[in-house]
Amino acid sequence: MRILLIGSGGREHAIAWKLQQSLRLTKLFIAPGNAGTAQIGTNVPVDVANHDEVASFCASEKIDMVVVGPEVPLVAGLCDDLSAKLPSLKLVGPGAAGAQLEGSKAFSKAFMAEFGIPTAAYQTFTAGDVAAAKEFLRKLEPPYVLKADGLAAGKGVVIPHTLAEAEQELDEMLSGKFGEASAKVVIEEFLDGPEFSVFVLTDGDDYQLLPVARDYKRAGEGDTGPNTGGMGAVSPVPFADKHMMAKVRERIVEPTLHGLRTRGIPYTGIIFLGLINVKDEPYVIEYNCRLGDPETEVIMPRITSDLLSLFDSMFDGTLSQNQLSIDSRAAATVVMASGGYPSSYEKGKTISGLDELNDCIPFLAGVKEQEGRLVTNGGRVLMLTSYGLTYMEAAEMSKRSAASVHFEGGFFRKDIGK
Ligand code: AMP
Ligand code: GLY
Repeated sequence: MRILLIGSGGREHAIAWKLQQSLRLTKLFIAPGNAGTAQIGTNVPVDVANHDEVASFCASEKIDMVVVGPEVPLVAGLCDDLSAKLPSLKLVGPGAAGAQLEGSKAFSKAFMAEFGIPTAAYQTFTAGDVAAAKEFLRKLEPPYVLKADGLAAGKGVVIPHTLAEAEQELDEMLSGKFGEASAKVVIEEFLDGPEFSVFVLTDGDDYQLLPVARDYKRAGEGDTGPNTGGMGAVSPVPFADKHMMAKVRERIVEPTLHGLRTRGIPYTGIIFLGLINVKDEPYVIEYNCRLGDPETEVIMPRITSDLLSLFDSMFDGTLSQNQLSIDSRAAATVVMASGGYPSSYEKGKTISGLDELNDCIPFLAGVKEQEGRLVTNGGRVLMLTSYGLTYMEAAEMSKRSAASVHFEGGFFRKDIGK
């Protein structure tokens, strides 16, 4: 099978790494890819925002399956445009209608309310209803949760601790702090508990759950500092046991699929449930329409089944027959980031120490090759994944590896796994 994988992060390196293990893979292209995916397949400079260009590439290279990594092309309707032009293409990723689960918080909250899916109480406001929004804020207990409706590169959620800060934040968001994305703002009740990420692979009817993971979102140790795309991840998550997962299936996964079918929204791909465990009850914090990054870097190494066949089974109605097998070992990944991330940072720093790593799988993200050297090219630079009997043990190994990789200004969280 000939596959085009879209994206350029550590997530796509991990997906490519896993797809490569399939005997059924004959050719893998990655658009645009990075220095990591270049070691596995062929990076191609196709402009992903130009859907006609992607379709022409798929036609001329006789692509059988497109796997879309990031949310932006999904929300932009890449899959709709590809299937209109090339109906036989197998598309791992939803069309724009399904991608709204991630692309619009107002949509996803209304969807959860309609189908009785547990989530924080909320209301949605626009610039016309500032007074009502402030009144709603006054009824809530601090801290306050304000979310830009649209995509904001993971920065659209703010959690102020005082009413005054919340009101100021609301004013800024509604007057364009996140551009069009915050023209609508969702204000919701704060939920307290440990978070976990559940990945549902679905063809819209049947589904399989991939290994559960936990992400460390804050830049600083002890969960301090600004939110990032994620500074590390572990899998499995001990409290996501049989009982918890039965609740997740019954109260969240199945009603979500039922809701999509009821609304006539086809969905083939991943539904990523960002969940929170409040006193042993699961609530949805957010939906995403793709795999997580860096969660994928612990999930792929734990799946022992053939990923390509698993994806393929979504297209012939055999997804539920395909028993997913999971490595009994735990996995952890530690993200090495550029100094300054998630704010501004410099690029082009030489990376050393990768060749000497053992007992660890390096996944590259913001890395490019320049004159035969690997140099930094993004905020999150690389992820180091290890296995262990427990995720603590795995995380210790990843941190030991991270200590031996160097680039100027680079940092990682030393408390991943805690
Ligand atoms: P999101 O982009 O919706 O995942 O939000 C980013 C982060 O904000 C989440 O991972 C949570 O840590 C936090 N968050 C979002 N919504 C809530 C909520 N209702 N209560 C508590 N924390 C939240
Ligand atoms: N690591 C969280 C995300 O991918 O959204």
